[in-house]
Order: sequence, then structure tokens, then C-alpha cells
Amino acid sequence: MQNSLNHLAIIMDGNGRWAQLQGKGRQAGHKKGASNVRTITNWCAKHNIAHLTLYAFSTENWNRPKTEVDFLMKLLERYLRDEAKTYHDNGIRFRAIGDIAFFSEPLKHLILDLESATSHYTTLTQTLALNYGSRNEIARACHKILLDGALDRSQSPQEAAKALESAISAALDTADMPDVDLLIRTGGEQRLSNFLLWQASYAELAFSQTLWPDFSTDELAAIIDDFRARTRRFGAL
Ligand code: FPP
Repeated sequence: MQNSLNHLAIIMDGNGRWAQLQGKGRQAGHKKGASNVRTITNWCAKHNIAHLTLYAFSTENWNRPKTEVDFLMKLLERYLRDEAKTYHDNGIRFRAIGDIAFFSEPLKHLILDLESATSHYTTLTQTLALNYGSRNEIARACHKILLDGALDRSQSPQEAAKALESAISAALDTADMPDVDLLIRTGGEQRLSNFLLWQASYAELAFSQTLWPDFSTDELAAIIDDFRARTRRFGAL
């Protein structure tokens, strides 16, 4: 039996190096990277993948030079404005995970408006991780649970841990999404960089040498074929 792929997550790494290899500034790499987001998203929509989650801006990315951060914010704004039609034309639902409170008012509005305008679409849910970090997400989830006052102090530590696993899953930004089945990182590095650590607990991992702007649908299809043939045991035999 082949594995089914409900949730694909991608760490889109290598924009800066791609630009450098072309003798261009890093911004050119991010621009080309954003255009590849469109290509890969549309391909996933046509290939029955229910969830595609992309790491677009991490909680650590604020540490980049201000000019690069500002450029990424503007690029994101332009992308959400220009791509609205693509989401509607292809029945794609847009969602954001991460703490968007830190973004400018116009960017926050674009995010919230596109989320609500596409919330009824069912072909593919494309989720952008924006100001996202797993540790931050889990900490925010724990904070919600503590504020709710739902902790039952009469439970044994074992009962409490079981109940808390469900409570944390339900309080994460990804609350109603399935766990990640396949996580791909492009750009040659082999690490998770604080991305979906809870949700990818049993994900299959794939690392590609290809820099994100060059990552093609053919390579994605080959990685997915390999994933479908893998044996997944989820800790059992
Ligand atoms: C990593 O490349 C990529 C990012 C920090 C951001 C990803 C952003 C995009 C793909 C473009 C914007 C996205 C949207 C949806 C508009 P890097 O800069 O770390 O590359 P490097 O490791 O070669 O320096």
C-alpha cells in the first residue's frame, strides 16, 4: 500500500545563494523564490494534496539586515495582493500560522482578508508560516491553556500528560490540520530550523540540494514518489 500524502511541508531555503550564483542581490533570489511559491502551490492543487505548508518567514528572520526584512515584508504584501485571483481561480484556501501581531497593519489586513475570502475553498489549503517558530507556537498554545484554566489538578501526571497532548494540539495554530506526512527542505542544509516540530513528529524527511528558486515540480514529483513507497511505522512494528 502506498502512503497517502495529506500534508506536505516545505522549508524553502537557498534564495540568497541562488541570487549570488547569478551575480544578483539577495532580493532577486527572494523574488524568484516567491514566483516558485506560485508554481509549486498550483501543482499541489492539481495533484490532490490537501495541505501545503510553506516556511516563509521565521521568528529568527527578524535578525537579518533591516533592508532584507523590509524587502521580504513588501514582497509578501505584493504577493498576497497579486495572487488573490490565483487562490480564487484554483479554489485554494489561504491560511497563515505564526504570530502575525508583529506585522504592519496593511500586511495583517491582507492576511486576515485573504484568509476569510478563501475560507470556503477545499481543493488545497496553502498555509504560509509567517513570523513562525515552533517553540513560540507551542509556548503560545500553553499560554492559552493556562489562561483557559482547564488544567485538572486531580489528574495523575500520566493522565494529565495524555490530556495535555490533545489540548496542546488543539491550541496550536495548526489546530484542525492533519499532522505533516512529508517535510522537504531545499538548499542543501539538513535541519528543521524550528519548523512544525510538534506536527512533524512522524513526518518523513527529504533534503534536496536544489536551491528553492530552482526547485521544480519534476523534482517534487520524484520526492513524492519516493515518499509514497516508504514504510511508515509510527513507532510500531
Ligand atoms: C531562505 O532563503 C528563505 C527565506 C528566509 C524566506 C522564504 C521566502 C520566500 C520563498 C519568498 C517570499 C515568499 C512569499 C510567499 C512571498 P535564504 O535567504 O536563507 O537563502 P540562503 O540560505 O541561500 O541565504
